[in-house]
Amino acid sequence: MIIASNFKTNYTRGAAKAFIKEIQSFISQTNSEQQVRIFAPFTALDHFDEVSNLKVGAQNFYPVQSGSYTGEIGFEQLEEFGIDTVLIGHSERRHILKESQNFIATKYDFAKAREVEIIYCIGEPAEIRVQGIDAVMSYLWEQFEGIEINYDKLIIAYEPVWAIGTGLTASLEDIEEVLTRLREKLCTPLLYGGSVKVDNIDAILHVKACDGVLVGTASWNEKAFCEMIRIAD
Ligand code: G3P
Repeated sequence: MIIASNFKTNYTRGAAKAFIKEIQSFISQTNSEQQVRIFAPFTALDHFDEVSNLKVGAQNFYPVQSGSYTGEIGFEQLEEFGIDTVLIGHSERRHILKESQNFIATKYDFAKAREVEIIYCIGEPAEIRVQGIDAVMSYLWEQFEGIEINYDKLIIAYEPVWAIGTGLTASLEDIEEVLTRLREKLCTPLLYGGSVKVDNIDAILHVKACDGVLVGTASWNEKAFCEMIRIAD
């Protein structure tokens, strides 16, 4: 299973590094076989000890190696720390930072050309969800516009926007329905994200076609995140 934590805009450098080290030692001590990902803030990127099934990733990047893009982070800055997994298409970047599908596809092509792992996020807002599964699926497929899905390092994270940070987890039936429909066309790992927590992770990981989770809020606590990894084991 893939168990990923997205720190978003939280943690100082010191706190994020301490968190990562704690998760590393938990994985080593328990010999966990889960594929763990931690998407830390840029300020916490560093050279971490190698733990084969844990990768520290980048939440974002600008699709250039380097250049004149004030305030942005290019790939050269990520490569310095050996970053080889990135998030693309997160709803907070689509909606709050106004990233267009066109720009997201450009970022995707750029990361794919560099052969890094991509966790590509999709998800529908509440007003689409109430229209039913067909509306949800056509909304989600639109979020694949310009995305070359035949990529062996692609992981999809289905994160309904209304479930993110709200405590409103999608029902197991809804998660299964969406993931099963995605599975008909995609052979990449499929994750669910949206108010995943210690109490519901086991049931979510047992949903058909679910290969893991992408967790925000509930993972911002070392003990809780370790517990989630333990439950997955
Ligand atoms: O990327 C993870 C995410 O957006 C889910 O956040 O707080 O609902 O677990 P949360």
